[in-house]
Amino acid sequence: MSFSIEKIKDNIGVEIKADKETLLSGKHSTEIREALEANGVFVLKEINFTSEEQLEFTKTLGHVIDEGEGGIYKVTLDTKENEHADYLKGAFYWHMDGSTLDVPILASLLNGFKPSETGGNTEFCSTYVGYEDLPEEDKAAYKDLRVVHSLAAAQYYVHPEPTLEQISTWNMMPSRTHPLVWAHESGRKSLVIGASASHIEGMDYEEGRALLHKLRIHCTQPKYVYSHKWTKGDLVAWDNTGTLHRATHYPANSGRMMHRTKLEGEEPIA
Ligand SMILES: [Fe+2]
Repeated sequence: MSFSIEKIKDNIGVEIKADKETLLSGKHSTEIREALEANGVFVLKEINFTSEEQLEFTKTLGHVIDEGEGGIYKVTLDTKENEHADYLKGAFYWHMDGSTLDVPILASLLNGFKPSETGGNTEFCSTYVGYEDLPEEDKAAYKDLRVVHSLAAAQYYVHPEPTLEQISTWNMMPSRTHPLVWAHESGRKSLVIGASASHIEGMDYEEGRALLHKLRIHCTQPKYVYSHKWTKGDLVAWDNTGTLHRATHYPANSGRMMHRTKLEGEEPIA
């Protein structure tokens, strides 16, 4: 019944070393939740959870969102395995999950069921530390800014010349305006940016987009990033409220298959 938490990098990521039984008992769920919030990402190397165990473990950390097959969603580019696989190509660009929701999801847990032989890392950056390291005058300038997030903004990365049908499908998901700086109940602050960030409300459109890209470039500097190279059976979880993530390129026919569970959000962006 061993349990330990070790930092991977100063600004992001910890590795949790524990056996399955200890993890599934929920005995350390408070510590794990705290480590996730403080470090953005945790890794369980080659834990080899079955789907049932992944669900059980996720439940020890919060409320599981019911999606996919009983809470397990297949992340793959194989359309035979997931009919919405094309939509998942948006994951190649830095993003938050559920940024068009009033309450974005708290966390995602990815189980490396079958990694790609080439590429296919999952990368994370901390928008907490990225914000904290900004010059004070920038923090003051961003204090009251609001960002419009939309599914369409994220999908234009994948389909720069979409059909009108694609655009109308994307637009069925309403856009959502959030503060640029999320003041969390914990007292920490993070930036609400990523591929779904379309523009800044009330600011010249191009000027606002340039600012959003400047902040994305700032937060994705190597010192704020952890890049996970998958071994089969790894489980990696991220705090979706204070990180961005993306997948690095991998071939669509690689067979890469990740099983994802999600924890419901607990706090609106304010
Ligand atoms: Fe994602």
